[in-house]
Amino acid sequence: MKQILNFAEIKGKLLKMEQDQGKFKRYTITSALPYANGPIHIGHLAGVYVPADIYVRYLRLNEKDVVFIGGSDEHGVPITIKAQNEGVSPQEIVDRYHSIIKKSFKEFGISFDVYSRTSNRIHHETAADFFKTLYEKGEFVEQSSEHYYDEEKNQFLADRYITGTCPHCGNEKAYGDQCENCGTTLNATDLINPKSALSGNAPVLKETRHWYLPLDKYEDWLKEWILEGHKEWKPNVYGQCKSWIDQGLQPRAVTRDLDWGVKVPVEGADGKVLYVWFDAPIGYISATREWAHENGKDWEPYWKDESSKMVHFIGKDNIVFHCIIFPSMLKHEGSYILPENVPANEFLNLENDKISTSRNWAVWLHEYLEEFPGKQDVLRYVLCANAPETKDNDFTWKDFQARNNNELLAVFGNFVNRTLVLTQKYFDGKVPEVTGLTDLDKALIEELKTYPGSIGKSLENYRFREALNELMNLARLGNKYLTETEPWKLFKTDVERVKTILNLSLQICANLALYSEAFLPFTSEKLYGMLNIDRLLWKDGGGNLIEAGHELNKPGFLFEKIEDAAIEAQIEKLLATKKDNEANAAIEVNSQKENIVFDDFVKMDIRTGTILEAEKVPKTKKLLKIKVDTGIDQRIVVSGIAEFYKPEEIIGQKVSILVNLASRKLKGIESQGMILMAENTKGELCFVQPSADFHNGSEIK
Ligand code: 2FM
Ligand code: ZN
Repeated sequence: MKQILNFAEIKGKLLKMEQDQGKFKRYTITSALPYANGPIHIGHLAGVYVPADIYVRYLRLNEKDVVFIGGSDEHGVPITIKAQNEGVSPQEIVDRYHSIIKKSFKEFGISFDVYSRTSNRIHHETAADFFKTLYEKGEFVEQSSEHYYDEEKNQFLADRYITGTCPHCGNEKAYGDQCENCGTTLNATDLINPKSALSGNAPVLKETRHWYLPLDKYEDWLKEWILEGHKEWKPNVYGQCKSWIDQGLQPRAVTRDLDWGVKVPVEGADGKVLYVWFDAPIGYISATREWAHENGKDWEPYWKDESSKMVHFIGKDNIVFHCIIFPSMLKHEGSYILPENVPANEFLNLENDKISTSRNWAVWLHEYLEEFPGKQDVLRYVLCANAPETKDNDFTWKDFQARNNNELLAVFGNFVNRTLVLTQKYFDGKVPEVTGLTDLDKALIEELKTYPGSIGKSLENYRFREALNELMNLARLGNKYLTETEPWKLFKTDVERVKTILNLSLQICANLALYSEAFLPFTSEKLYGMLNIDRLLWKDGGGNLIEAGHELNKPGFLFEKIEDAAIEAQIEKLLATKKDNEANAAIEVNSQKENIVFDDFVKMDIRTGTILEAEKVPKTKKLLKIKVDTGIDQRIVVSGIAEFYKPEEIIGQKVSILVNLASRKLKGIESQGMILMAENTKGELCFVQPSADFHNGSEIK
């Protein structure tokens, strides 16, 4: 969605940016707490942690008082399911992944001030107290409603613990909260033939009592705060908030019948815990408390003082929780500040396919760190240069290689290396003095002054790709200067001129060391080492940073070429994953379902038929509305085959149709029956048709 701003809005936006500069005394920067049921992959990094880390490093370079918060989200049903599948406790699962995640973040240079976890005692206390405050203020609505219950296991079932057939696309493995095939958000009661993941039995509905956050009551405030007050938020974030609010908000249950999580701290709530999305963002507060405690600080100003700026870095699937639900909790608790911004990113795909933990379709951070030792900055660079800031983007290994070889190595590394090697060669590694300035030099000096402002402005507006490109422009400027002045041709004839050229080039190198600390911290450190200077601050940027006569260290390489073999190995690895996935799908298809008795079979009335008409169901990707002559009548069936057939192709197609399936509404259309399809291991569908030209309505037995 392109947001078109009018003059007043642009002026408002500019004014707001200016005000922000001096307004804030401290910064509370949070990054989404990853679930501790799997390791970190490049999608997490590009969406959340790389931009958050760049932003925080930039603030620190500006001597801001900042706390950068991270931690593991250790509650929630998927963790309990994983534990159950592995026959271990949920605590064992989260211990395992918390330590893998924490270690890989550290090695990758994500500079958290604290990396905490929600199974810590301090978090349980903080979250329970938060709930209690809202409870005592009478904010919650208590309500009883029917939920699925497993009678054999004697427990209520979280939506994720119920599987069944998606009413929208027919996927038989949809979860009670979402169908991963068509992406529709579901209620467990929408599923056809629901089954408990615990016992395999059909669950029954049973009454249970829960506490709800009355988002409907907060609607006017949210409209005012977001839709009027935060027009400067990124269009993807603002747009998603607007669409939620416009659709009308419903009260949200913030407790669950489950035994893994923060116990609900009120009487009569045995067997209930806080909903994971209620406790997880409070994890940011608990982590700040933990950090403050360990560092002799006071946590409260970071969360309660209006002069603190809070920013949440998250992926797009977390927008509603960070823009609507958590702020509602903070606001109605009464003593907290609200986020100034929530610069959520879209998703990163891998080699043109959605990143998926269950299909192992990912580049895992801990594996990358092992397979590309010392190359943290290459991945940081590629993920920032290609960050899904405004739309979903794709990571490919070829692009990774090209960006390393053609940009980091050929532009940044080459400029620094040429400058340092020439200084070594001509002046024994001592910074030469400026002996006189040409117009070209003067223009260069002027241009150099613009960089701290231009990079800083992009960063302050969460435009990380633009900022990184600007950093590379500085390296490009340096290369262009060397190419134009050709000091290697002048040494014999005009050494004075060479002194000036190399002095100015070294000033560019020092500026590069300074700005790159935000984006490429390992490279920055190496470069400071080669220049033999102390770390600089943003305010130093733009000018002369190294004195004449200063002695440099021996030059080394900042980057190295990534060869085809390394890239091919990664592509091979992904191809092997793809093969495994196909083989697993084949095993699943080949494994026979449970036996049924003949009576079950004869209940199904399957007939031959012919498709008379077909059209796409508007606003869906997969559905066709099909009119079939069943021999009995002509009826409408909605079928999830639009990915495989165009409507006009299937007119006249002979089909087999289950005619006595209870009718159901799909996207507002009454579907009467089901057309039988064969599915191969790739998930492709084709019609099952009689082998002779039998009349419509012939029974299939
Ligand atoms: O989507 C996720 O991975 C969640 N664990 C993010 C939680 S963010 C915050 F609320 F803690
Ligand atoms: Zn579906």
